[in-house]
Amino acid sequence: MCGIVGYVGKKNAQDFLISGLKRLEYRGYDSAGIVTFDAKGKATLLRSKGKISDLETKVAKNKRTDTVGIGHTRWATHGEPSERNAHPHKAGKIYLVHNGIIENYKELKSKLEKFHTFASDTDSEVLAALINHFYLDGEYPLSNAVVQALKLVHGTYGIAVVSELKPTEVVVARSGSPLVIGIGHGETLIASDASALLGHTKKAIYLNDGEVASITADSVEIKTLDSQPVSAKVETIKTDLAAIQKGGYDHFLLKEIMEQPASLTETLRGRINLIEKTVHLGGPNLSDKELKSIKHLIIVGCGTAYHAGMLASYYIEQFTNDITIEPVMASEYRYRHAHIPDHTVALIVSQSGETADTLACLRDLKSQGVKTIGIVNAIGSTIAREVDGGTYIHAGPEISVASTKAFTSQAVAMIMFGLTIAEAKGIKNSFIAPYVEEIAALPNEIDNLLQTLPDTIKALAEKYKSYDHAIYLGRDVSYPAALEGALKLKEISYIDANAYPTGELKHGPLALIDDRFFEFVLLPKDNLYDKSISGVQEVLARGGHVVVITNSAEFSLPVDNVIKITTSLKLLAPILMNLVSQLFAYYITTAKGFNVDQPRNLAKSVTVE
Ligand code: F6R
Repeated sequence: MCGIVGYVGKKNAQDFLISGLKRLEYRGYDSAGIVTFDAKGKATLLRSKGKISDLETKVAKNKRTDTVGIGHTRWATHGEPSERNAHPHKAGKIYLVHNGIIENYKELKSKLEKFHTFASDTDSEVLAALINHFYLDGEYPLSNAVVQALKLVHGTYGIAVVSELKPTEVVVARSGSPLVIGIGHGETLIASDASALLGHTKKAIYLNDGEVASITADSVEIKTLDSQPVSAKVETIKTDLAAIQKGGYDHFLLKEIMEQPASLTETLRGRINLIEKTVHLGGPNLSDKELKSIKHLIIVGCGTAYHAGMLASYYIEQFTNDITIEPVMASEYRYRHAHIPDHTVALIVSQSGETADTLACLRDLKSQGVKTIGIVNAIGSTIAREVDGGTYIHAGPEISVASTKAFTSQAVAMIMFGLTIAEAKGIKNSFIAPYVEEIAALPNEIDNLLQTLPDTIKALAEKYKSYDHAIYLGRDVSYPAALEGALKLKEISYIDANAYPTGELKHGPLALIDDRFFEFVLLPKDNLYDKSISGVQEVLARGGHVVVITNSAEFSLPVDNVIKITTSLKLLAPILMNLVSQLFAYYITTAKGFNVDQPRNLAKSVTVE
């Protein structure tokens, strides 16, 4: 949610800023801007509405040799997407880029109005004006002015600030929005996500909440808001450049769908023992005694991560017998007055590891003494660092805004966590073994499906691309898979898609069925198969346009389309079916000609509430 970059060194700052912003464009893409400085402090500010490519055109006409600068790609919160609301914002001699939300901006703005003429509608310009107010045109060091200003601010921020008076220094700070400092040879780079640094350096310092850093080409000085010095920990960025490139695919989304056999293999690596039919997750750091004592499991996440948690909860209930499992949406749960029983453990699920609502729940649960376990993809992210223990899903960077490979890996990682609980509780291995075997087989099964089905699904998408509404149906484990399928379709193709449990149709949604709708039914051959068939019949009897995804060879109802999946999986077939939904959403969206990787109004990594 908004991307920040910065550069101090000897090379062309514009080049790094633009290439860095392109890497971060998935975080926000309604407007962008950069400011660079020459040795005397002369600033060149370039901003534009729209994508980074629009900004790039502007930069090409205003090429500079400046070696210091900051940049920003925006996902609008306060003020419409426009050039005047794009960052960097200027106040006096300073320029600022900001990711996050200043909650008390109105109150601060009313006090600052007599000193500063506001040129935008943003909360960020208020922060720039406040810093400038303490900076007194260079009378105080910039980092001191930043500290004074931040002490008055409520909200979240990742910021980078430069003054025309000292253009060899960038000051950065964070609270709730990520900031990484890349250490190069004679250059220092700044980004809200390490992916922007790849190809420049692998050495990085991840700033913590409440820290402020003064950065030059060859130094980084960090202090807290209480002016206590912090000794920086330099870490190695493990991601490779290839992982954040399209690798020959037209879109990141297709690449990420297609790489699931490999990404899931990474999730499973070293964690499955196929001889003993057991799983081993080291990261959660829970002893057998602690695992055994778990009575209540809360699974916290947003959007796709929540769906993965819900899906895993259906499975975990199947092979444990004395724990209750509650998947919750973080945005709701953070304001509930939920009673938390003794012996509760919380799984905190997040691809980015930065989602504000999920992070708020994590902090709240921790403060109540609940043991928190992260199910996170982004290494070194805030959630990964704040949980008590955790399991990285190791799915690799997910660039496309719609989450796909992370869902599969999150769901499987959580089922594995459930299996470790079951093992510790002494559940018979004969109950657990079939799940372990199917998990181990899943990457291959996914590979088979991805080798054989894309063309069929592409043709299906062509047929349904002009519908306005879709209903996704599933029962039991397939219900969360249906929810996830509907989310994928609506967020990238803008088709109004909703999911219902098949058994709920008759309690209301059946009234919707008409020619504007199609119904996408996930129909695994499980113990509820016959009951789900009745649901399909109810829809057919009302003239519905039904597409069925099934692994049942004998399915023969006269529906509009059937996608038959050949698989040996009995328990995990719904996870496989979700890949059909992912491909279907992808192909419908490309058939409609929409931007698959950057759907309108959205951004990846939602670091604001
Ligand atoms: C949907 C999607 C979102 C995210 C949600 C949580 O395709 O990507 O619903 O799943 O915003 O994000 P993370 O997992 O980063 O916490």
